[in-house]
Amino acid sequence: MIDAIHTPVMLERTLELLAPALDREGAVAIDATLGMGGHAEALLTAFPRLRLIGIDRDVDAIGIARERLAFAADRVTIVHAVYDEIARALAAGGAVRVAGVLFDLGVSSLQLDRAERGFAYAQDAPLDMRMDRSTGPTAATIVAEYSEAELRRIFQEYGEEKLAPRYARRIVEARALAPIDTSLRLVEIIGDATPAAARRPGNPAKRVFQALRIEVNGELEALRRALPAALDALEVGGRIVVLAYQSLEDRIVKRELAARTASTAPRGLPVELPEHRPEFRLLTRGAELASDDERARNPRATPVRLRAAERSKEAA
Ligand SMILES: C[S@@+](CC[C@H](N)C(=O)[O-])C[C@H]1O[C@@H](n2cnc3c(N)ncnc32)[C@H](O)[C@@H]1O
Repeated sequence: MIDAIHTPVMLERTLELLAPALDREGAVAIDATLGMGGHAEALLTAFPRLRLIGIDRDVDAIGIARERLAFAADRVTIVHAVYDEIARALAAGGAVRVAGVLFDLGVSSLQLDRAERGFAYAQDAPLDMRMDRSTGPTAATIVAEYSEAELRRIFQEYGEEKLAPRYARRIVEARALAPIDTSLRLVEIIGDATPAAARRPGNPAKRVFQALRIEVNGELEALRRALPAALDALEVGGRIVVLAYQSLEDRIVKRELAARTASTAPRGLPVELPEHRPEFRLLTRGAELASDDERARNPRATPVRLRAAERSKEAA
């Protein structure tokens, strides 16, 4: 049943990249996006000496993961947190440094498939979209309370939506008449506001939904804080793998890894001194994609971009 609801993306490649760091006595890894524990289950099975600290902000996902990982309960610590609280998660797991970190970003199939969570534009539900339903404003609150300019900005920045000004205006007009509190109502408003000539394949509300989800969950800010903390927590030889599903997240990952893998030698220095060598080396050339075969089997793997790095020396 659990296998049917989530197939971990790029699983073999993730295991292969993490193996040199995790397949040894005393190794501790952080799964920063535990979800339903698909990757975690495979890691704990492949590396029988591994201890894993799993983080997720979604209590429903944690409930499923706890059950799925019961076979290795003595090697797992699960922490309900936003993943930028890596330090707290490490303390909860009794660790200081780790040998591996995995980020499998974005929403889970559990969140997308449960209509009542309000993530999917294809199903009618209250406009919620909170990954952690115990805290923070819902998408309905944002749609009701943000100014037209704020709505336009998030649609532009987080949805990369060309029709952002038009959609923001229509939302403000529509909410003056009646509250917009369901996904279907928002889809209708966006659909009506989309000129026939601007129609592209797929649902025109897709980018607006992505933007609202990112805003509701503070996804990009959390990632910007979490990545440096995760890299700092890696011991020498430790490895990080990040799976991103949209360009905004992938850009943050790409930039952070580029900064950490660049030499700090001043320009013009004829030889690189050891202290100028970068702390990390890239394990992937550019971003790796899922195979055609995996995309055919699992459409959720289609947009994935995988990047990985290894700590090669201590921070100065
Ligand atoms: C794609 S799913 C992970 C699936 C998991 N790898 C598996 O195989 O089952 C992403 C998970 O990350 C969680 N998540 C996303 N952003 C988060 C954040 N900032 N802090 C903590 N968890 C987050 C979501 O709640 C979701 O459960």
